Amino acid sequence: MSANPLIFPEERRLATVLFADVQGFTALAEQLDFETVSDLIKGIWERLDKAIENHTGFIDKHLGDGVMAIWGAPFAGENDAEQAVLAGLDLIKALDEYCESSGIRGAEKLKLRVGVNTGQVFAGYVGTRREYTVLGDTVNVASRLEQIAEAGTVVIGENTLRMVAGGFRVHRLEPTAAKGKTELVQPYRVEGRLLFPAVDQGQGSDLIISKMVGREDEFNKLKLIYDRCFPHTTGSFAEPRSAPKQGIKPAMVILNGDVGIGKTRLSAEFINFLVNLSDINVIISTRGLVKTSKEPFSMWRLLLLNCFGILDDDPAQASHKKWTQGFERIWIGDDTQAEKTEVMLQLGKVAGLSDSWNNPDTGIEQELSESASSFKENYTDDDKYLQGIFCAIHKLLSLLGKNRNLILLFDDLQFADRESLQLLASIITTDKTPIRIMIIGGARPEFLKTNTQWHNIARVINLNPLDLTTEMVSRAYPHLRILPESLLNEIGQHAEGNPYFLGEIIKSLLKGSLHENIVDPQAVREQLSSQIPEPLRATLQARMDNLSREARTAALLASVVGRVFWVGAVLAAARSTPLPGATPLIKVPETVIDRFIQGGLRQMVLADLAFPRSGSKFSDGQEYFFKNSYLRDVAYSLIPNRNRVQYHKAVAEWMTQFDDSAFQSMAREHEHKAETSAKISLGDLSKTKPQK
Ligand SMILES: Nc1ncnc2c1ncn2[C@@H]1O[C@H](COP(=O)(O)OP(=O)(O)OP(=O)(O)O)[C@@H](O)[C@H]1O
Ligand SMILES: [Mg+2]
Repeated sequence: MSANPLIFPEERRLATVLFADVQGFTALAEQLDFETVSDLIKGIWERLDKAIENHTGFIDKHLGDGVMAIWGAPFAGENDAEQAVLAGLDLIKALDEYCESSGIRGAEKLKLRVGVNTGQVFAGYVGTRREYTVLGDTVNVASRLEQIAEAGTVVIGENTLRMVAGGFRVHRLEPTAAKGKTELVQPYRVEGRLLFPAVDQGQGSDLIISKMVGREDEFNKLKLIYDRCFPHTTGSFAEPRSAPKQGIKPAMVILNGDVGIGKTRLSAEFINFLVNLSDINVIISTRGLVKTSKEPFSMWRLLLLNCFGILDDDPAQASHKKWTQGFERIWIGDDTQAEKTEVMLQLGKVAGLSDSWNNPDTGIEQELSESASSFKENYTDDDKYLQGIFCAIHKLLSLLGKNRNLILLFDDLQFADRESLQLLASIITTDKTPIRIMIIGGARPEFLKTNTQWHNIARVINLNPLDLTTEMVSRAYPHLRILPESLLNEIGQHAEGNPYFLGEIIKSLLKGSLHENIVDPQAVREQLSSQIPEPLRATLQARMDNLSREARTAALLASVVGRVFWVGAVLAAARSTPLPGATPLIKVPETVIDRFIQGGLRQMVLADLAFPRSGSKFSDGQEYFFKNSYLRDVAYSLIPNRNRVQYHKAVAEWMTQFDDSAFQSMAREHEHKAETSAKISLGDLSKTKPQK
């Protein structure tokens, strides 16, 4: 990734910063010819940069023997902190491997130190060359953590640890001082990755798991669909059925709902229920991922790998063995060997495995990415080719479901690639040979909004916000029963019916004002109203970054107006330069700005970020509101203070034109906010006081 100074907005962001430094370089360089040194440096950074970019990091700069990399700026991903820590571990491995194999005497003594920290930064341009970078305490602390890291280790800050939610095994180190911080910083050394974080109890409060609440109706609907799909096993679940061939159809249900509303959790609970019920149920899962959303058949590829228990880092030989043995097991009855070879060949293409047999030393991951790209090149809209894949998948599913109840899980359909969806749709709607399968899909609302035909293909269960009453909150988190009811109620209210928000709020309270059995209700209340839990902020920031430029700009400007906003007010803010993310030098005509913002608002609605509300009393005042207040807060938190000044002023001015007391008082609030933002940007107010 390279920074183009014109395209990244200047923003306040939540980011993870990594510093890595090669130790022992200066001493080694003294003993070598400078040509050798320069070869060594080139070789090292070629590999280390690749490790950073493989983990979606943005290389900020190389400094001497070190590098600074950023996650969360210029764009946020959904698991930036985790990617940064994984990159840190990979960097150490990559340097060791390269130095050992370089053949340069003494190179094997080189070791990497890595520091990673997460927090608020200002992302923008510095210097006469207008280089894009991030600034702030977070950066200083990351650099400090790198300095205290022992050679060959990754040290992370407390915030990063919290963000990775127990995904790594860590060792607590002595607290240390850092530039720009009055308090000591708590470092942790990363010892390794935890594959099953929920089972490990090492991180204490980071791993509080909720009990599922409030989804009884939806759960029962799933049971009903299951019963209809597999009528002969209802009740006893013991006898393998001899299915009548008529009336059999794969049944698909889509759990539809917002980020964190509980789609994955509900399907996981349902699947646990089925697994415990009987071993006649066989479940294979797959999911859409952002990074594979353009790779043909990537969801089916993951499904195939899961079906045969093939792991990402299995060497080719091991994956080959699992693949062939898997087919031996399921290929029973009168089907011919020739057909089997054909099916294996077709599915091998989908799984990206076909060439890997020849090269038993490479891991499957590399093979997969290589064959995925060659697969893409070969992929044309050739009907015969697709037909071959369809027939092979159809055959495989019929075999798997022959004597068992086959349940497929397709989670995160909003990230599905086009070809996977086509294949799934044809499996469900085909008249060919009936197969009995239950398919459970999970999707955020944008999926059905942009793929409306799926309403006809699948049954949709909408997951609505939960009614997070005091009773519900304490049932989901029984150990919080020590809290006063009024406080539990407030916590529930803040989560706005979203169990993911609830979980993050509780985790952040447990870190801050809620320590074990000591409760200070006032402190809890203050924390509740002043802070967005950081993992939540990271998720919502990523969501904002996935929007089109129009929608994102409109969302930022709308956030200045408030949770409820009016088109006229947003346009007024937009006309006061600069637009978020735009260069102030470019003067854009107002009609263009208006069209841009109107388009952005429409897309915000499509992306399920905001709703229009009818009946506004103002002429240019079509009224909207943000779906939840955290979205509004996160959008607002991205805007630099100096820009907030102009936006608030413009909004205040727009409001004063109405002869309405509510608007007059809102206008005064906006004027006040403009003044406060101006003071903050001039350094008059403490930077630690967040403004909402
Ligand atoms: N009904 C519930 N009761 C208690 N906790 C829940 C419930 N539903 C979800 N949770 C918890 O809330 C968090 C978010 O849920 P989940 O991951 O299922 O959301 P999701 O809808 O799949 O979100 P995404 O769109 O991001 O995939 C998880 O920690 C989950 O355990
Ligand atoms: Mg999910």
